Amino acid sequence: VTGDLLITGASHVATCAGPGPRRGAALDDAGVREGVAIRTASGLIAAIGPEAELRAAAREDLAAGRLTELSVGGRAIVPGFVDAHTHAVFAGNRAREFEMRLRGRTYLEILEAGGGILDTVDRVRAAGHAGLLAESAPRLARMLALGTTTAEVKSGYGLSLESELTMLEVIRDLDRTGPLALVPTFLGAHACPRGADRDAYAREVAQVMMPRVASRGLARFVDVFCDAGAFDVAQARLILDSARAHGLGLKLHADEIKSIGATPLGVELGCTSLDHLEKTTPEDVRRLADSRTVAVLLPGTAFVLALGFPPARAMIEAGVAVALATDCNPGSCYTESMPLIQMLACCGMRMTPAEALVASTINGAAALGIADRCGSLEPGKQADLLVLESADFREIAYHFGPSPVRAVIRAGKLVHGEV
Ligand code: NIG
Ligand code: FE
Repeated sequence: VTGDLLITGASHVATCAGPGPRRGAALDDAGVREGVAIRTASGLIAAIGPEAELRAAAREDLAAGRLTELSVGGRAIVPGFVDAHTHAVFAGNRAREFEMRLRGRTYLEILEAGGGILDTVDRVRAAGHAGLLAESAPRLARMLALGTTTAEVKSGYGLSLESELTMLEVIRDLDRTGPLALVPTFLGAHACPRGADRDAYAREVAQVMMPRVASRGLARFVDVFCDAGAFDVAQARLILDSARAHGLGLKLHADEIKSIGATPLGVELGCTSLDHLEKTTPEDVRRLADSRTVAVLLPGTAFVLALGFPPARAMIEAGVAVALATDCNPGSCYTESMPLIQMLACCGMRMTPAEALVASTINGAAALGIADRCGSLEPGKQADLLVLESADFREIAYHFGPSPVRAVIRAGKLVHGEV
C-alpha cells in the first residue's frame, strides 16, 4: 500500500488525544471513539472523524486513485507505542548472569565484581560499529513488530569517548534506515569503567565527552545512573549541569536500587523524565506530582530483578505524569515488548488498560519532549498507528504471550504485517 490512506472499518480508535502528558483521572481516558475513520496525508493524520463524513469528502480522491482505502475489518486501532527508555543497542547477551541471579547473586554484586554492565561494555567495544549495527537492527525490527514506532535509545556500553561516539553513531544510523524513529540519549555515566576513579570519570563525562557529543549533534538527552553502586548526586549534578549548558535535555535513572536523592535533584534541575522509581519515597512522589517531570516506570525491570514494583497507584492518585517503557537491555530486562510491559503495569501495579495505553503512547512521547508530534491520533500528528488483532484495545494487556499487533503503520506507510 502506498500513498495517502483512508483507514476504515475499525471497531474503535483509542486516540489517546493530548495534550500530553495526561495525569490523574485523565490518564484513565484513552480517548476511545467508535465509528470513525482516519485520513492520512504525506505521513501525517489529516482528519479523524465519522466514517461516512470522511468517505463522502474523499469520494473524488478515492475514485481518482489519489487515496487508498484500507479497511481493518472490525479491529481496534491505537497509536504506535513510544518506548521512552531503552538500551536496545548492545552486543552479546548475559544469559550466564541471568542464571547467576536466579541462584542468588544480586544485580549490584555482579556489577561491583566487574560484570553486569561492564560485561556488555567488553562485547560492545569488540563488536565495533558494524557488529553493533548488525546485532541491533533485528532487535529494533522485533520492537516494531510488537507495536513500537518511536523508541529512545541510550549509549552507555562504551564508557570511553571513542566507543560512546560509536554507539551514538549506530543509533543515528539505525534511525536513518528506519523503520523506527529513534531518540538518542548520551548515558556516558552508566557505570564506572574498570580501574577508573569514579569522580575523575564523572568529570571526564561532563567536561570531555559532553562537548564532543553535543557538537556533533549525536544526542538529544543526557542520562545518569544515579543510585547506590553507581553515580552519586554530586556526580550526577555535575554531568547534568554540563548537559544543560550544552543545550541537551535531562534524564536520570533514579531510585532503582535505593533512594539516594536522585528524585529531588532531578525535579530541581527540571529533568524531562525520571526513570525507574521503584524505591521512591512518598515525599518524592509529591515532589514529582508538583513538577512537570514525567515518571517513566519500567515494570519489566522491577519484575525481573524482584525489586518490588514502583508505587504507580500512589503516583497516579497524587497527579504524577506516569509513562511506561521496556528498559530493553541485556541485564535487567531483556524484552522488546511494550504489550508485555502493559500487562505487567496492569497486573503488577494495578493500572487500568487505558492508563497503561496512555502511559505507553502520549505520556511516553511527553517523556521524550515530542508529544506535539506523536503519541496520539489527532490531526497534524504523525500517522503512527497499530491495527490490533482484537476488536478491543484492552486485549493488549489482557491477552499476553502472542503479539496483539496485526499491522503497523508508521508515518502513513504500512511497515509491518498486513490488514
Ligand atoms: O536501566 N540500571 C542501570 N541500567 C540498566 C541496566 C543495564 C544493564 O544491566 O545492562 C537499567 O536497568
Ligand atoms: Fe535503564
